[in-house]
Amino acid sequence: MIIFLKNAKVLSKSCDGMFDLLLNNGIIEKIFSCEDTPDSLVYDECIDLNGKTLIPGIIDMHVHLREPGYEYKETIESGLKAAVKGGVTTVGVMPNTDPVIDNEYLVEYLKMKSELYGLSEILPIGAVTKKSQGVELAPMINMAKRGAIAFSDDGNPVENAHIMLKALEYYKMTNRPIINHAEVKELSKTGFMREGEYSNFYGIYGIPSVAESIMVARDIELAKYTDAHVHIAHVSTQESLNLIKNAKKDGVKVSCEVTHNHLIFTDKDLKDYSTSFKVNPPLADEESRNTFIQALKDDLIDIIVTDHAPHADYEKEVEFQNAPNGISGLDTLLSSLLKLSIEEDISLKKLIEKVTYYPTRIFNLEKKGDIKEGYFADLVILNENETWNVNNKTVFSKGKNTPFMGMDLPGVVEYTFIKGKKVYSKEDVLV
Ligand code: DOR
Repeated sequence: MIIFLKNAKVLSKSCDGMFDLLLNNGIIEKIFSCEDTPDSLVYDECIDLNGKTLIPGIIDMHVHLREPGYEYKETIESGLKAAVKGGVTTVGVMPNTDPVIDNEYLVEYLKMKSELYGLSEILPIGAVTKKSQGVELAPMINMAKRGAIAFSDDGNPVENAHIMLKALEYYKMTNRPIINHAEVKELSKTGFMREGEYSNFYGIYGIPSVAESIMVARDIELAKYTDAHVHIAHVSTQESLNLIKNAKKDGVKVSCEVTHNHLIFTDKDLKDYSTSFKVNPPLADEESRNTFIQALKDDLIDIIVTDHAPHADYEKEVEFQNAPNGISGLDTLLSSLLKLSIEEDISLKKLIEKVTYYPTRIFNLEKKGDIKEGYFADLVILNENETWNVNNKTVFSKGKNTPFMGMDLPGVVEYTFIKGKKVYSKEDVLV
């Protein structure tokens, strides 16, 4: 199948401007400046974008799909449908399912499921420890051989420093980063939101920011000692960022991510005690949020992720303290990047690169994340000028637990292509 995309406003790391693209057999075969496109092209289908935006398929490296074990929250199919509707064509999937993805057979199960639906590609993230219990290392080499892209016990930190050291030593053999959810539980376990002015004001027990940064400091030291790559999940404090900044300067192999929710919302937004804002790590204060935005501009923060964490309505419709942590995010990631580019002084190109090009650098992904000849035709046609309302019908994830609920957001995905195949079309979907 040969598809011709014409008059595209391309926005990607290496291509920025008006171009025509020829997709052949799943690959971007040719990119022409609009005025140079030959008349003699032969193709099966032509889509005239009329100046609409074309971006590389988004790569979201922090997603909880809940299957196997918690299908009532999300199935792989429902999660991937939300992904393609949100322009996300590759998902790094966390292992905190039941059973935990802690062996090569379960990694293969995820790969098999990924192929079954023909939607976004699943990149399995294997557990660091068996059952993510933090006691015994999982078979990382076997998992890497069968397709695990990284290792993490996300949802939980790797608390034991000895285990973390040993896990990092495997980096030399697997070339896969360890993603740690940095949280000192002794400091966080009695809190439900970020400790500060608003936790006092709202009367909710707080989690001190050092609960994160103490473990970030430890992980950096261990990465330095082992010369291994540690990736800090969902950074949420200024202290952590300072540590990461200094470590990067010293040449430590450390990278980090921030969620789109932490870039947009703050602890002040908990005013109605809505459990859709309850997430771990908790939303930060406004000063920290501004630091995250500056850190993105400075490339101190490497990538943006969703930490897509769908929960059932009945689980979230309880008192704030009793609700599970987590925000459903695949449906809203791309629109929130547009919102950020409009409201904050940050270019959309930079934000798009943080969810396309940079994930490929951190996780060694080939032929993805950019619009380049020879790359996979994972592409998203985006109408920047249209808005959509976030509601139960327009959120495709089973998890309706999003703080964007009820809001009008900019940016509507018109088509999503994966390896040259149209996997989502706005026209074919009734919402
Ligand atoms: O809020 C969160 N929810 N943070 C995590 O680290 C895990 C996630 C989940 O799995 O629900």
